[in-house]
Amino acid sequence: MSSFDLESIKAALNSQIASVDSPRALEELRVKYLGRKGIIAQLTSSIPNLPQEERSSFGQQVNALKNQVMSLFDEKQKSIIGQSAVSGRLSFDIGLPGISQDLGHLHPITQVMDEILDIFMRMGFCVVEGPEIETEYNNFTGLNIPLEHPSRDMFDTFYIKSRLRRQMSHVKTCNAQRATRNRLLLRSHTSPVQIRVMKSRKPPLAVVVPGRVYRPDAVDVSHSFMFHQIEGFIVDENIKFSDLKGVLEVFAKGVFGKNIQMRFRPHFFPFTEPSAEVDISCIICQGKGCSVCGRKGWLEILGSGMIHPQVFKNVGYDPKIYTGFAFGLGIERIAMLKYGIDDIRLFFENDLRFLKQF
Ligand code: PHE
Repeated sequence: MSSFDLESIKAALNSQIASVDSPRALEELRVKYLGRKGIIAQLTSSIPNLPQEERSSFGQQVNALKNQVMSLFDEKQKSIIGQSAVSGRLSFDIGLPGISQDLGHLHPITQVMDEILDIFMRMGFCVVEGPEIETEYNNFTGLNIPLEHPSRDMFDTFYIKSRLRRQMSHVKTCNAQRATRNRLLLRSHTSPVQIRVMKSRKPPLAVVVPGRVYRPDAVDVSHSFMFHQIEGFIVDENIKFSDLKGVLEVFAKGVFGKNIQMRFRPHFFPFTEPSAEVDISCIICQGKGCSVCGRKGWLEILGSGMIHPQVFKNVGYDPKIYTGFAFGLGIERIAMLKYGIDDIRLFFENDLRFLKQF
């Protein structure tokens, strides 16, 4: 190939590009010259076939031509865009509807959580959070849950294999035993935050604690291995069971409406004494009995009680001076009752058809 060929290629391009009047035609021409199998690429691939002494100078000429061709295309591109804008023939259609951005919103669990926290904050509670990875002490021992309690069982709590424990497992020292006894775990309730707060602050306390908790339950319509709780507690001199009742009544009426009935059923928790489970009148059948409430007319919504004196001793409070109450509720359960949702798994599948309804 001679330099004459290159000149004629350039001349041909000059005349072809002059007649181009649309972005699409320009793109077609660009592919013809600069595409992977285009004219310039063909010239470049012909270089190795030339006699040795011609290769270098021809290579330089092809390179120069390529640069000229590219700048010709750049110029043409700019003038086409300019022209079409000026002449009103834009290279895109301003009449087309835009691509709408879907606005997201808070997850229903977050919405219910915020709503509940709001009710307690209006009563003067403050919000505190704690870690999801807890010590066995805070999750159980400090809360007066005895070593042999079934909730400590491997089948009821996710324990975390710590590197420290594994390294020390063959060293039977006091430290190894202590490390074994204060294993790390995924908290199975929000109650360990009671221990954290009471150890670091002095009464009076009025605290609510939202957060995730974990239990190795098989997943079904009403069980999930991870769910959300809100813990609440008040500690001061002279706190009575009637204070607990009053606070929970404000909460239940705030969430489920003024006409809701409440009842306290005696129960047992190691960290409260006395303890009670709290039911509300069934919001589906208003207490008459239906399939949601199992024909009982009542729905259990939370656990509660007066903080056990042993818990106060564990955190260094004098149980002769201070009394207090605590309660813990599952947010998924409240949200399911409030919105008539019959499967807890819906909260975690992130199906937009479900989430968009809230
Ligand atoms: N921690 C208890 C649970 O998860 C609930 C609870 C909290 C009960 C505080 C009494 C007092 O079941």
